[in-house]
Amino acid sequence: MSNTTLHFPKDFLWGTAASAYQIEGAYNEDGKGESIWDRFVRWDAHVLNGDTGDIACDHYHRMPQDVALLKELGIPCYSFTVAWTRILPEGRGQVNAKGLDFYDRLVDALLDAGIRPKGTLYHWDFPQLLQDLGGWVNRDSVQWFGDYAQIVFDKLADRVKIWGTHNEPWVASFLGYASGFHAPGICDFTKAYQTAHHMLMAHGKAVQIYRDSGYGGEIGIILNLNGLIPASESEEDIAATQRVHDETHALFLDPVFKGRYPQRHFDYIGAHQPQIHEGDLQLIQQPIDFLGLNYYNTDTVSYDVFGGLNKARITPYSSPGWGKTDMHWGIHPAGIKSEVLHIKENYGNPDLYITENGCAMPDGPDENDFVLDWDRIRYIKAHIQALHEAIEAGANLKGYFVWSVFDNFEWERGYSNRFGLVRVNYETQERTPKQSAYWYRGVIKKNGIEI
Ligand code: FCB
Repeated sequence: MSNTTLHFPKDFLWGTAASAYQIEGAYNEDGKGESIWDRFVRWDAHVLNGDTGDIACDHYHRMPQDVALLKELGIPCYSFTVAWTRILPEGRGQVNAKGLDFYDRLVDALLDAGIRPKGTLYHWDFPQLLQDLGGWVNRDSVQWFGDYAQIVFDKLADRVKIWGTHNEPWVASFLGYASGFHAPGICDFTKAYQTAHHMLMAHGKAVQIYRDSGYGGEIGIILNLNGLIPASESEEDIAATQRVHDETHALFLDPVFKGRYPQRHFDYIGAHQPQIHEGDLQLIQQPIDFLGLNYYNTDTVSYDVFGGLNKARITPYSSPGWGKTDMHWGIHPAGIKSEVLHIKENYGNPDLYITENGCAMPDGPDENDFVLDWDRIRYIKAHIQALHEAIEAGANLKGYFVWSVFDNFEWERGYSNRFGLVRVNYETQERTPKQSAYWYRGVIKKNGIEI
């Protein structure tokens, strides 16, 4: 039996991603201010085992070695996020030079190692002092974010040529302000919708600032688009799926690409509709250079009168023979292709990056901390294969990033789930590449996968 290599387009960008709060640690060092996650992890019972990101992977102190490891693993592009409160400890006003310097050094270290840096401005770590003024619910947050963006661009955008504004604004709005699973832990749908609106405006503002500053790279927004399948063909299940789709997909995609919100959904949520001023949607609908798509899993949706605001019950969906990840997320590789094609067909076939894809697996290490993670390799390979099909079907997919390079702090689940290509021993901070890291190096080298 001979293997076939599925080749990816020339210049296809392979990478790995990580985020500030999940790996950096040093939560109160060198002048860093408090973020909502620094506060949230200290709130009784909100994170499994009382875990915090205070130390995490200690990346703040180990950055040079971590970059050297990325180089050894042949990673062409590394996606990092900036912690707002390292740059502006109070969220606005006084700039903290030491905080900016950390990212400056990171970017130079990456470039010296021949690795392209990709930056994201916001990955959920909002400044606590601005949260005290209402957080994203306060309309001033648009300007606060714009001012922060300008400072970051002025320091880094001469060398960082791919920028994301927000990572997963749905998570920040709905887990942060509706279910309260994430910081700031608020349970109020009206606030969640207002947050989504202001985050979208802040995105538009940052894009405008980036263009006006003339840095000439690419900028876009990163959305989490899970697959959704109606549990049956009943009208009720289809309508429930539509509601979830409107909240998670159309609420963000429509304003960014079409300059309008999904009216059907706004009619449904009634009094929870956000306050929108004239001109807001024009600000949101700035031309972007790419859409970042994070895809992990697919769910089936059925109508359930006890199913929250959307009256929907969500159940993990797995393709036959795949089962679930350690997060209890259903594995459905074809779902990534459906999401990509949904964007291609409904939003003008924009340039896309898969900005996150990967899985937490049980990861039993041997006595040397080595993890033979064939299950992770199988997952990633199947998703890459589905993406190859999407490209053949005409999608403008430009790159793919594995989440994540290191095991890290997985939000409300703390350290109980491991997503890394590299194992982190949290006691010693030792890093040990897993089998998947070596396998991924091979994919990058071949610019494709063997099937
Ligand atoms: C995404 C987040 C990322 C990580 C993965 C597993 O939703 O952007 O920080 O937690 O899920």
